[in-house]
Amino acid sequence: SGPTHPSASTPAPADTVAGLLAEISRVGADTHRGGYSRPVFSTAELDLRAWFLAHAAKRGLDVETDRNGVIWAWWHTPVGGTANAVVTGSHLDSVPGGGAFDGPLGVASALVALDFLQAEGLRPERPLAIAVFPEEEGSRFGVACLGTRVLTGAIDVNLARGLRDQNGDTFAEVAARSGFDPTLLGPDPEALARIGTFIELHVEQGRELIDRHQAVGIGSSILGHGRWRLSVTGQGNHAGTTLMTDRHDPMIAAAGIVMAIRDTARAQPGARATVGRLEPVPGGTNVIASRVDLWLDARHPDDAVTASVVATILAEARLIAAAEGCTVQLTEESVSRTVSFDTGLRDHLSLLLPDAPVQHTGAGHDAGILTQYVPTAMLFVRNPTGVSHSPEEYVEDDDAEAGALALARVLADLLVP
Ligand code: GLV
Ligand code: MN
Ligand code: MN
Ligand code: MN
Repeated sequence: SGPTHPSASTPAPADTVAGLLAEISRVGADTHRGGYSRPVFSTAELDLRAWFLAHAAKRGLDVETDRNGVIWAWWHTPVGGTANAVVTGSHLDSVPGGGAFDGPLGVASALVALDFLQAEGLRPERPLAIAVFPEEEGSRFGVACLGTRVLTGAIDVNLARGLRDQNGDTFAEVAARSGFDPTLLGPDPEALARIGTFIELHVEQGRELIDRHQAVGIGSSILGHGRWRLSVTGQGNHAGTTLMTDRHDPMIAAAGIVMAIRDTARAQPGARATVGRLEPVPGGTNVIASRVDLWLDARHPDDAVTASVVATILAEARLIAAAEGCTVQLTEESVSRTVSFDTGLRDHLSLLLPDAPVQHTGAGHDAGILTQYVPTAMLFVRNPTGVSHSPEEYVEDDDAEAGALALARVLADLLVP
């Protein structure tokens, strides 16, 4: 399809961010956990991709889903082409039982920001694309920001292809079932080279904007973080016939390890460590588990400190497990180092949005991967609960519109330098 000119005189769709979020919220509600569960390439996530494509088409954008499952919706310059593009967007996958805003807010705001620009009759001198990245949360295949890691080559593609979901299906198999050729998954230097500037708008996942009485903030840096699986192996046995003195129960070791993780992080200023997922195998009420897998999420501004926190945890875990006659194995699943956003771009955003505080975040984002390759910035929108990765995550309608307006201001400035 040919370039769509901004002068095309379709009236701007009368969508609001809140209206778009209401549409998104019809998809993927999790009646069991509460909130929304939209693993990448699930029916819910695929339905939201289709929803996005329809909204992009309605705005006259040229849409393309690339070989890695990234959606690009292009608003072309009058001369066409994709070089030095301004790209904005976020993700539509969610954590299990997540909130309505983490990911979708950035996608909905991008559409509404574009509406503002089209309604103003802005004639961009650079192309604009809205991007939707797959598997930002790493909820299905374990690696956070898998889409941008594959696109940039930050993860070895053979390793990525073999990542398994909870059903044991690999990323390659699931991608194939979703209509992608698994042999074509991999680094896409051409797609990356098109990005001149990347801006991700995201719901705030903390309280800073509440405290500062501001609707919108500007990102400065992202706390380094990683995920490790600890597999504690003992002896599976019968809950009724096995004396309490005669057990090698990995669940007991796991309980001690969870406490040790908390204590280790508390002893290290600035560290955060969490066990949010634990799986006993085989998982029966009357069965002493043979193995317990638990997942450690650890974060600290200094990557060397994160590594030493994990090393301390592993050493403690070995002792705790040995006391139960169990063993522990540690596997790194994904690591993201501490990153800062482009300072020139950030300062420029501060000039455009003088009231917006500049803030650091403890949450990971595709912007954290992309900033290692292209000038990248983030905008945050106030969350009055301060809670995220939970159904309690929230954004007021007025703040959502203020976010989209701020994004539009930034995009307009970048598009017409
Ligand atoms: C993703 O949201 C993360 O920070 O884990
Ligand atoms: Mn998230
Ligand atoms: Mn997110
Ligand atoms: Mn994230």
